[in-house]
Amino acid sequence: MPNMRLARYLPRYRNYIPLEPRDGLLLPKPTLLQACFAGVFAFSLLLNIIHFFRPIRTLPSPLDDYQQLKRYPMLNQSAIPPLSEDDWRGAAIVTTLYSDSYAPAVATLGHSLQLVNTSARMIMMYIPSQISPEALCLATASGFVAHPVERIAPPGSGRGIRKQFVDQYTKLRLWTLDTLSEPVRRAVYIDSDTLVLHSLDELFALPYAFAAGPDVWAGDPGFTLAFNAGVLFLRPDSALFGSLVAALGVARYPPAFAEQAFLNQFFATDVLRLPLAYNGNLAIKQRAPKVWESLQDELRVLHYTVNKPFLYDSSRPVPLDRLADRVRESAEEYKGVFREEMLMWGDMWRETRRVYSDKLRECMIFSSFPDPENDER
Ligand SMILES: *[C@@H]1O[C@H](CO)[C@@H](O)[C@H](O)[C@H]1NC(C)=O
Ligand SMILES: *[C@@H]1O[C@H](CO)[C@@H](O)[C@H](O)[C@H]1NC(C)=O
Repeated sequence: MPNMRLARYLPRYRNYIPLEPRDGLLLPKPTLLQACFAGVFAFSLLLNIIHFFRPIRTLPSPLDDYQQLKRYPMLNQSAIPPLSEDDWRGAAIVTTLYSDSYAPAVATLGHSLQLVNTSARMIMMYIPSQISPEALCLATASGFVAHPVERIAPPGSGRGIRKQFVDQYTKLRLWTLDTLSEPVRRAVYIDSDTLVLHSLDELFALPYAFAAGPDVWAGDPGFTLAFNAGVLFLRPDSALFGSLVAALGVARYPPAFAEQAFLNQFFATDVLRLPLAYNGNLAIKQRAPKVWESLQDELRVLHYTVNKPFLYDSSRPVPLDRLADRVRESAEEYKGVFREEMLMWGDMWRETRRVYSDKLRECMIFSSFPDPENDER
């Protein structure tokens, strides 16, 4: 007797023809649609993998595709709030000297500041144990008043710091200048590897606690939101200095860039970003020549970041009687991109030696130093 339950299913299988294994494969041949789906899936997977491993790039800045569209002055002179005599007594332009090799740079910067008739005092903070009397004499010849400060060592025993920045935390002493017998209430700090080309006295009228110009890199990341610590506006305040020093122990930032990275972390939300003209970093010229060109009329500070006309390889000292040669050599470096700027520094240095020749002769070092009048080469 046939199994009735099974018999009920039999008609369904009546037309069933078992598949012959073809070429050893039991899989059915994909339809065109299935093949298309598989192709799209593989392609999308490939794109995702490529995207995942792609180097992260910052979005291009409008400055990278710069057009000179504007037609207005950067500053409205009549809109600057006037400062009283008292305000000006508390206003200072400050630079620093941590190594003898920067003494000619400070003297030259000082002369450039005299040429623009700044109304502020000129102060140079220096680390006495690291500076010879001759270098001190040279650096202050054009008007900077020397102010000795104690060095601030890099936190974490200087782990990860670039060696050219090991003294830079001393810059935090700017905030202690309110303790001078004639207190500084407003300070514009300028790195000594700079020239001032136009007065920047308007900065002293800023209502903010802290201002600085954007940092710029010739390569990635190019134009950034971070600021360059080569030109700063700040209000000296010993209480704030205390917070800065306390924060050094807990702040998270890349240690290589020393105080600049730290200050970027500390003032991250509050920094007033100054126009590029206040920190004419040579990297701007390398990255975006059109931007550099458009800055020329207003450029306040020319900042010798990429190359320095007064140092070998941006680090080794140049003997004073070799400086003129070094300037000419630096003009040809970087394929001559910075020729004009290097020669400009050389001219300013030569003029400094001429204008302050009497003072310079008083500096002991100049017994072996060629007479400025006879060394115009
Ligand atoms: C400059 O500032 C003054 C005073 O605030 C104002 O009257 C004048 O219109 C401004 N000029 C320009 C060109 O913006
Ligand atoms: C600085 O002052 C001198 C003397 O008063 C003057 O001749 C010169 O033009 C001034 N320079 C600038 C840039 O204002």
